[in-house]
Amino acid sequence: MRTTEQIPAQEPARQFHYMEVARDLVQKKAEEAGRPLSFFVQTFGCQMNARDSEKLRGILQHIGFVPGEDETADFVLYNTCTVRENANQKVYGRLGYLQTLKRKNPSMFIALCGCMMQEPEVLQTLRDKYTFVDLVFGTHNIFKLAELIVRALEQHEMLIDVWKDTDMIVEDLPVDRKYSFKSGVNIMFGCNNFCSYCIVPYVRGRERSRNPRDIIREIESLISEGVREVMLLGQNVNSYGKNLDPQVTFAELLETIAGIDGLDRIRFMTSHPKDLSEDLIRVMAEHPKICRHLHLPLQSGSTEILRRMNRRYTKEQYLELVDRIRAAVPDISLTTDIIVGFPGETEADFQETLDVVRRVRYDSAFTFIYSKRTGTPAAVMENQVPDEVIKDRFGRLLAEVQEIGREQTARFTGQTMPVLVEQQNEQDPALVTGRLDTNAVVHFPGDPSLIGQIVDVYLAECRGFYYLGEMRNQELPSS
Ligand code: SAH
Ligand code: SF4
Ligand code: F3S
Repeated sequence: MRTTEQIPAQEPARQFHYMEVARDLVQKKAEEAGRPLSFFVQTFGCQMNARDSEKLRGILQHIGFVPGEDETADFVLYNTCTVRENANQKVYGRLGYLQTLKRKNPSMFIALCGCMMQEPEVLQTLRDKYTFVDLVFGTHNIFKLAELIVRALEQHEMLIDVWKDTDMIVEDLPVDRKYSFKSGVNIMFGCNNFCSYCIVPYVRGRERSRNPRDIIREIESLISEGVREVMLLGQNVNSYGKNLDPQVTFAELLETIAGIDGLDRIRFMTSHPKDLSEDLIRVMAEHPKICRHLHLPLQSGSTEILRRMNRRYTKEQYLELVDRIRAAVPDISLTTDIIVGFPGETEADFQETLDVVRRVRYDSAFTFIYSKRTGTPAAVMENQVPDEVIKDRFGRLLAEVQEIGREQTARFTGQTMPVLVEQQNEQDPALVTGRLDTNAVVHFPGDPSLIGQIVDVYLAECRGFYYLGEMRNQELPSS
């Protein structure tokens, strides 16, 4: 066993030390069991969490666990979300199931991490009612997974290590990517916007940007491993770089990334309308590698509701921004997030939302019922909207966004466009499934050898939110 004097103080060296220690422990347990130990990571929530889970899986594989199929694995980790109350309920529901599994297999190790763990009431509930959980950590210390596993195995009772905030960004730990040909890349962490309904700033901490050098180094290394598409990730990518010295804007970062050889497609999310610069629009218009897709959360079409949401733009400013984007990047696909039933929302406010939906004509929209999050300013606002009223508005909004989404998605029917092939079709193995740069889904006859390639596909028919197509000959006929 290694002595404490040998433990490096600096990251990531310290974690590589703990990964070695954990590897010894896992190997010993595997020998006792007479088989390799398996792990299963279940991700809830957004793309940030999905990327975090790739890092967690990377560490678990590095220390000797092998991928398992489901919760019957030896090591089960839930990476949780708490953006809406139903996300929490899902996790509590699943924990009941995990308890029955652990009764059958007492050496099973159960760990919880992610946004929900940053809430003190959740930790209290876990301590009171879910004592069979072995390890709990938050959003700021996922890089410490190996060290936490070692400590949890030593102490034989629930280990909780949740940090309130951090200014650390630990680079260069193992990652196990879900796709070989595309990858998320964090460019910043946290959020400083404090939209009045939103819990994310409380559970993800203050905004901090990665150094452009580290981002570019990571992208270059991904390209050398075969990645063709990157998705730059941040809660509000448009405020990237504000805390860096010297300051770098998101438009500058994006332009540099667009200049990297070997990359075919660049996506990013999410853009806050209040910070979307003229420079960014120009860079998007000038660089064909930047996908013609922008996720631009509206939240509400009512200027008064937007003010109380602390979104810091008006209905008119949003619409004017959309006009400028469409003028610079014709054919761009716009998608959005909308909340129905924010406290005090009247029928007239809701009509303003429908009005924006009709004017902008989104390719698709995620619609959410407002969920009260303890600790946020909106949770204590008066005039919470009754459930029946919210349900009625939600139904009307959904019908509108779906009808417009169908029409918008179909606008490329009859054209031939490049598709990045992502997987074999889940229903029909004779088909493969990929995406246009606008993010629309396309199914067409093809075999799995196409996965990861960009091919030209004739978009024969649009069925609601996806196309059925046919691959076109990739070689130009020789004359
Ligand atoms: N940073 C992103 C959004 C992250 S959360 C942005 O600002 O666009 C994803 C979406 O969840 C939000 O856009 C919002 O529409 C929704 N959301 C956040 N808090 C919510 C709440 N309390 N109730 C309902 N929906 C919420
Ligand atoms: Fe939440 Fe607003 Fe930050 Fe998005 S920008 S994560 S909605 S506080
Ligand atoms: Fe959920 Fe956390 Fe993302 S609360 S939406 S997983 S940042």
